[in-house]
Amino acid sequence: MQYSENVFVMDHPLIKHKLTYLRDKNTGSKEFRQLVSEIATLECYEATRDLPLMDTHIETPVGPATTQIIAGRKLAFVPILRAGLGMVDGVLTLVPAAKVGHIGLYRDPETLAPVEYYSKLPLDIEERDVILLDPMLATGGSAIDAVTILKKSHPKSIKFVCIIAAPEGIQAFTQAHPEIPVICAAVDDHLNEHGYIVPGLGDAGDRIFGTL
Ligand code: PRP
Ligand code: URA
Repeated sequence: MQYSENVFVMDHPLIKHKLTYLRDKNTGSKEFRQLVSEIATLECYEATRDLPLMDTHIETPVGPATTQIIAGRKLAFVPILRAGLGMVDGVLTLVPAAKVGHIGLYRDPETLAPVEYYSKLPLDIEERDVILLDPMLATGGSAIDAVTILKKSHPKSIKFVCIIAAPEGIQAFTQAHPEIPVICAAVDDHLNEHGYIVPGLGDAGDRIFGTL
């Protein structure tokens, strides 16, 4: 479902079902990690919808056939540390040959401003289409800065895949980077006074890594 010009919300019963258990405060880390990974796989299916195809000729057991394969497009997944790491296994299930870069950002608990502490991207990133991963788009600060960092290394294209977005984060992100498509699994109600998404799921990184 199209939320706004470049923002797409996955409208699928499997995702809605998995999100319910992801949000539940009684879901433990093991199941939480599994759900994040499965939702990321389903979102990756949508994020790769426009990969170009080319014809190839094969022999089936019954005879020759002209069929299609992906036309050699190179992908890189870039999780925002820490919580984005939880999405990596899920997306690599669909595109095992992709490279993986990392951008480390944490939100200052007082100001909510993102602080960069690490960045390592594939050397050939200029030849790659990048899918940036983070489960949460809250104020938008982290995703905005991550895209700014990515743009400095000139990838062929960038898409941002998150799981839960706040309307405030979508507004800020699309204002900062209007050309970057955003794919999410849900758009929630609002941010609370601590910058948490309501109803959201709490702190994604803490729930993935059990650091509550
Ligand atoms: C969380 C989340 C995003 C960020 C979203 O990370 O994973 O990166 O907050 O918030 P924003 O849109 O307001 O920037 P956090 O800073 O808690 O770090 P962590 O992943 O290491 O726990
Ligand atoms: N980061 C999280 O992990 N959860 C939120 O609700 C907001 C930012």
